[in-house]
Amino acid sequence: MNVVIQGAGRGIGLALANIAKKSEINHLFLTARDPIVAEGFKHLPPGPSITWLPLDNLIPSSIEKAGETILSEIDKLDRVICCSGVLRDEVIKPEKRLADIDASALTYAYQVNATGPILLAKALLPALRGNHRLQFAGISARVGSISDNQLGGWYSYRASKAAQNQLMRTLSIEMARYNPNACVATLHPGTVDTALSKPFQTHVPAGSLFKSEDSATMLWSVLDKLRPSETGGFYAYDGTSIPF
Ligand SMILES: NC(=O)c1ccc[n+]([C@@H]2O[C@H](COP(=O)([O-])OP(=O)(O)OC[C@H]3O[C@@H](n4cnc5c(N)ncnc54)[C@H](OP(=O)(O)O)[C@@H]3O)[C@@H](O)[C@H]2O)c1
Repeated sequence: MNVVIQGAGRGIGLALANIAKKSEINHLFLTARDPIVAEGFKHLPPGPSITWLPLDNLIPSSIEKAGETILSEIDKLDRVICCSGVLRDEVIKPEKRLADIDASALTYAYQVNATGPILLAKALLPALRGNHRLQFAGISARVGSISDNQLGGWYSYRASKAAQNQLMRTLSIEMARYNPNACVATLHPGTVDTALSKPFQTHVPAGSLFKSEDSATMLWSVLDKLRPSETGGFYAYDGTSIPF
């Protein structure tokens, strides 16, 4: 099995990379913005079956370059999981109200949360084509569901995850022509104890906060079970369908 985990330096991506390592792996490609300083680099050092690549969603050429390196090493990919995401950092913070909207923060969220998976798909296309079983997944978020939005707020995060869902749904339709055994999906990991959710954990009901290892185990199992007929869907960690 050849696997790519984009955003494997920490959090859910690192937990997924640990699971991938224990699976029947031929080659595991892992990315982070700066692999050498990433937590994951120490846990899963480079070796004959592990390659780390620098990739920043804000720099499309870094995605192209990572794709070129991957394609130079393997002919086909069996699973690709795009894990990168941002909710709050030095550039954006989740908006509570309309007055908090900032044009550059909206664009930034879109660049990090939506463009990464689709640009990676473009860069990896030759290894996705064929007749082999393939799961191509983007880690999205339930708050990206438009029909499920009852609370409002978090404009940039919600909109960028909704955009990721649409980009992946559109990819699923084209990918069916290139590989009839492909399944393209977006996944909601649950509320997971990582740096991303840390500032927002106060109101999470007891027992509802997953460890990243537990969320990753469930997501990996969802991907194991997804069939080509289920391509284009948005699925939660327990395999249930989430409406767009
Ligand atoms: N935690 C939750 O409760 C929760 C809930 C719903 C959805 N999610 C989604 O799950 C995914 C993983 O998040 P997490 O909880 O594991 O958060 P995390 O620990 O904060 O990890 C964030 C990841 O995003 C990457 N990233 C950030 N900016 C990037 C950029 N410009 N280019 C490329 N990669 C970038 C980071 O890479 P570096 O190592 O290079 O910084 C890191 O791998 C995200 O898509 C998030 O939206 C999380």
